Amino acid sequence: MYTVPKLEDFSPAALDTAAADLLAALKAEAAAASGAEAFAEFRNRWMARKNGLLTQVNELWLKSAPGPAKREVGQRVNSLKQEAEALVTAAEAEAATGALRAKLAGERVDISLPGIARPLGVRHPVLRTLDELISVFVKMGYSVAEGPEVETDYYNFEALNFPPNHPARDTQDTLFVSGQEAKAQRDRLLLRTHTSPVQIRTMENLKPPVRVICPGKVHRNDAPDATHSPVFHQLEGLCVDTNITFGDLKGTLDHAMKSMFGSAVKTSFRPSFFPFTEPSVEVSISCPFCGGKGCRPCKQSGWIELLGAGMVDPNVFGFVNYDAKKLSGFAFGMGVERLAMMTYNVDDIQQFFYGDMRFLEQFA
Ligand code: PHE
Repeated sequence: MYTVPKLEDFSPAALDTAAADLLAALKAEAAAASGAEAFAEFRNRWMARKNGLLTQVNELWLKSAPGPAKREVGQRVNSLKQEAEALVTAAEAEAATGALRAKLAGERVDISLPGIARPLGVRHPVLRTLDELISVFVKMGYSVAEGPEVETDYYNFEALNFPPNHPARDTQDTLFVSGQEAKAQRDRLLLRTHTSPVQIRTMENLKPPVRVICPGKVHRNDAPDATHSPVFHQLEGLCVDTNITFGDLKGTLDHAMKSMFGSAVKTSFRPSFFPFTEPSVEVSISCPFCGGKGCRPCKQSGWIELLGAGMVDPNVFGFVNYDAKKLSGFAFGMGVERLAMMTYNVDDIQQFFYGDMRFLEQFA
C-alpha cells in the first residue's frame, strides 16, 4: 500500500514523479473502495487532518524542503493537494451514483401496466334527495336555515308547545344527554328529535315575513329496521306572513311533490295532531309507482304518507314574540330518507347507512 516517501531530491522533475505516484495511488484506491464503509475508510486515509496522507505531504515534502526550494515546493504541494481533493470529491459522487445505479439495476418499472384508477365519488342518495328538495323550495323563495343537533328541551319541545310531561312528547322517543339533572328542565340537553326547533330559532332571529327551510339530521331512540333508523334526516319548512292560509300550505306542498315525483302525482291532506300546528295534517301523495291503483310500495292503498304539516299554532308565536293577531303561517316536515327510498326505489332504509359500495355505486 502507498506511503508518502521522504524526499531527498527537491528538483522539479523529482517532485513531478513523486506527485504522479501519489495521484496514481489515490486513483487506484478510490476505484477499489466499494461500499460506503470502504469509501469512508479511503477518504479518511487520504484526507484526515491529523495524519492523513495529504497532511503527511505537508510534513515530509514541504517542511523538509531546503530554504531556496520552499517557494517552488509550496506551490506544487498546494496544487497537488487541490487535485487530490477534487479526485476524492469526484470519487465520492461517483460512488453515490454507482450505488443508485446498482439499486435501479435491481428494479424494473413496467410503464405499460395500467395505473390505479381512483373512482370519482358521487353524492350520497340521501344528500342528493335533500339537495333536490332544497332547490325546489329555493325556487319558491325560501332560504336555508340550520340549527344544532344537540338541542335544549326548550327548543325541541317547550317552545313548540309541548309542555313538560305532555303525552305528545312520547311520540318522539328522545335520546337525552346524561348528567343534565342539575339544570332547569328547559335547559337540559338532548339530541333533537326533529328539525322543528329551527323554526323557533329562526323566528327568534328574524322579523316576519319568514320563508325558510331547515334541512338536517335528527335522532330518535328507535330500533333500526327496514323503515326506521335512530339517525335520519328531515326537511322542515316554515312560512309566516300576514294572510297566510291553509290554501297556501296545500299549494306549496302540492307543487313541491309534483316537482319531486312528476306532475301526475296528487296530494291528499288528512287531519292529524302536532302540538305546534293547528290544524295539523298528514300529507300523502298518490303512489308514483302504480299511479294509485295499488302496489307493494303503497301497500295496495294507492297513497303514500310523506309529510306532517299544519298552520302554526298561535301559542308558538307567543314563545317568539310574534303577534299572533296579525300573523299566520304554515309549517311542514318530511323525512328525507323516506323520499329518497321513493325516488330510488330502495326498500330498506338501512342501505343508506351501511356504506356498502355495491349499493352506493348504483348512484354513480
Ligand atoms: N316535526 C314533526 C315531526 O318530526 C313534523 C312536522 C313539522 C309537523 C312541521 C308539522 C309541522 O314529526
